[in-house]
This record gives sequence, structure tokens and C-alpha cells, in this order.
Amino acid sequence: DPKSPIGPDPFQTVAKEMKFLTKNISQLLGSRHPTLDTVAKYYTQSEGKYVRPMLVLLMSRATAIAPKSGRSLIPESVNKSFASPSILVDENPSTPGYSPTTSLSNEPVYSSEDSDILPSQRRLAEITELIHTASLIHDDVIDHSESRRGAPSANIAFGNKMAVLAGDFMLGRASVALARLRDPEVTELLATVIANLVEGEFMQLKNTAQDEKHPMWTEDTVTYYLQKTYLKSASLISKSCRAAALLGQSTPEVVEAAYSYGKNLGLAFQLVDDMLDYTISGVELGKPAGADLELGLATAPLLFAWKDNKALGALVGRKFSQAGDVQKARELVAQSSGLEQTRALAQEYVDKAIQAISAFPESDAKQGLIEMCEKVLKRRN
Ligand code: FPP
Ligand code: MG
Ligand code: MG
Repeated sequence: DPKSPIGPDPFQTVAKEMKFLTKNISQLLGSRHPTLDTVAKYYTQSEGKYVRPMLVLLMSRATAIAPKSGRSLIPESVNKSFASPSILVDENPSTPGYSPTTSLSNEPVYSSEDSDILPSQRRLAEITELIHTASLIHDDVIDHSESRRGAPSANIAFGNKMAVLAGDFMLGRASVALARLRDPEVTELLATVIANLVEGEFMQLKNTAQDEKHPMWTEDTVTYYLQKTYLKSASLISKSCRAAALLGQSTPEVVEAAYSYGKNLGLAFQLVDDMLDYTISGVELGKPAGADLELGLATAPLLFAWKDNKALGALVGRKFSQAGDVQKARELVAQSSGLEQTRALAQEYVDKAIQAISAFPESDAKQGLIEMCEKVLKRRN
């Protein structure tokens, strides 16, 4: 409400777009194989936070009024229609009990109102959520997690095999939707994200560069952690913000600013995530709390505590695997300034994110991007 004393709600500006998001995602995940259909759509039933699509939509709107380049890779027709009926996407042999999927030849449904968000940018928002959800399904298998978004995780509900396959299916469908955008640079960005997610996960499997038995704390310890954090979390957020600006034909400066916003916000987002693992109950998180130490993972709060208490090195080296290690590490983190330092670093990144878009023209969407930063710092799940 523009007349309200606190001004218009920045999220109002994309709220109506979000309604179409879940419906279109569900359509993208349709399979005539009934079990695959159920497993693939499982995480779309429970409400996620939709942070990534929200950011894509806000960035699209905020850059719609920013300077434009002459970039014209995208054929006009792409924003008019995603699905050319002449393209046979998904032709299957007539296996008994399995008939070809037709869902991708259906047009996505978007707000009919005039909007400065392009259909290709809305589709990008859906793709980011698909890639994110696929990575969560796989992550829950890897982490032996039992809950997600307040419900049993897919690996618990359907078993590891179907969970892994459903994640792969989602990536396949995300790739088809991406190809349909007919923008090679955007395709390359999002394909790189998928590779980065795996690279980040591999860096995490090996907690330190050499995975030593007796690791020493050095400045590289934090650098390694931040690189891993970029790959597993900030890559998707930053590259999708970049892609949103590219689809909107923004100038190289605006594209860089969008990327820098996403990168810094993404790093802050994961730092807060790693902090909440120590500070919030599993009930409030909707997923297991205190899981990182149990998984042998030393995240920012512990790394900062370790800097001041070198005794933690032995526990890091054996991945908190001996009886009492997890409890001991938790106590040492609690006694240290590790959590405060983590929050302070997240605050620094948030400040950089806001700084990155300072030259954007004032708008509700820009305000929304700034508010998103504040939300990331304040969130409790
Ligand atoms: C959540 O981290 C997980 C990620 C951000 C990325 C996971 C990536 C993979 C499993 C690689 C496979 C990738 C694809 C694209 C299928 P977390 O375990 O710290 O967070 P959580 O507390 O939400 O479980
Ligand atoms: Mg996990
Ligand atoms: Mg994990």
C-alpha cells in the first residue's frame, strides 16, 4: 500500500509472480510414470522459502529500469512462447505402463498483467528453484538426513535410490527448460552452477585441503571454507542474479553488480546457515540441528573458535568421531567468539551486497533486494 507510513512492501512487487511459480515447477516435473511423478514433486508440496526465485524476480524488476545494452541474443519469440510444438522433447518408446511425457509442451502460466519481468526471467526463477531442490534431495541422501521443511526427507519417504533418481530427473528437466531459453550465456552460467554444487560438496567431503590427521589453523583454513561456501551456496544465487540481468539485456556494469550482489548475499546466507546449525532447534529449522559436527564438518563458528583454541585441531583432524568429541566441540564453540565472528562476517558480506547495487535506480524491487539482505541476517530457519 503506497499510502502506508512505512511505504510499499517490497515483496508485494513480486508476490503475485510467486503464485505461478509452484504451479509451473510442478508442471515441469510432471512424469507419466506415477511413482517418479510423486517423488519428483515431493519437495514442491512443502513450502520452501523460495529465496532463489524471489531474488531472481526482484533482480529482474530492479534491473528492468537500469541501463540496457544492445545485447540481443534472445530471439523475440522466446519471450512469447517457450514451447514450439514442432520440437519433440520427450519421445519415449512405448514401454508398457509408461507413456511419453507431454508436460513440457504445455505453456507455462504467468500473470496476465503487464509486468516488467520477462517470461524468460520468470522461467529462470523456476529453474533456480529446481536446481536448488535437486541439490537438497541429493544432499539429504549424502547427509543421511531425516527431515526437510518440517517433513520426512525424500530419502526417508522413498529411499535413497528413488531420491537420487528424482534429483537427477529434476536436473534433466531444469536443463530442458534452460535450453528453451535459447540463451547460450545463461545456459552456460546455470550449467556451471550444477558443476559448482558438486565441487563444493567434494571440498566439504575433504574438510581441509589435504585432509590431514593433524591440521594446523592457517589463514588458508578460512579461505578454503569460503571457497567451498561459494561453490555450494553462493554460486547458484550469484550466477542466477547475473543471468536475470543478462536476460533483461542489462549493460555489463549492471550484470556485474547483479552478480556481486548475489555472491555476497549467497556467502552471507550460508554463513548464517552454518550459525543456525549451532543455535536453533531442529523443530524450528524443519531439519536436523547440530548436524554439521555430527557429519564431521567444521564450519565457520568452529573455524573461528579453532583460531583461538588450537586444541580443536585434534578434533577437526578426526572429524569429531570419538565419543564426546561433538559435545566437546560444541562447548568450545559456545565459550568462544566463533558465533559472533560468523555473524560479523555475514554482516560484512551483506553490506557488500547492498553496496554492489547502490547505483541501481531507486525502486520497490531494489528496496526488496536490500530487505532480502536484512532478512538473511535475521532469519531463524
Ligand atoms: C545443503 O547444504 C546442500 C547444498 C547447498 C548443496 C548440495 C550439493 C550436492 C549434494 C551436490 C549434488 C548437486 C546437484 C545439483 C544435484 P547443507 O547440508 O549444509 O544444508 P542442510 O542443513 O540444509 O542440509
Ligand atoms: Mg544437509
Ligand atoms: Mg550437506
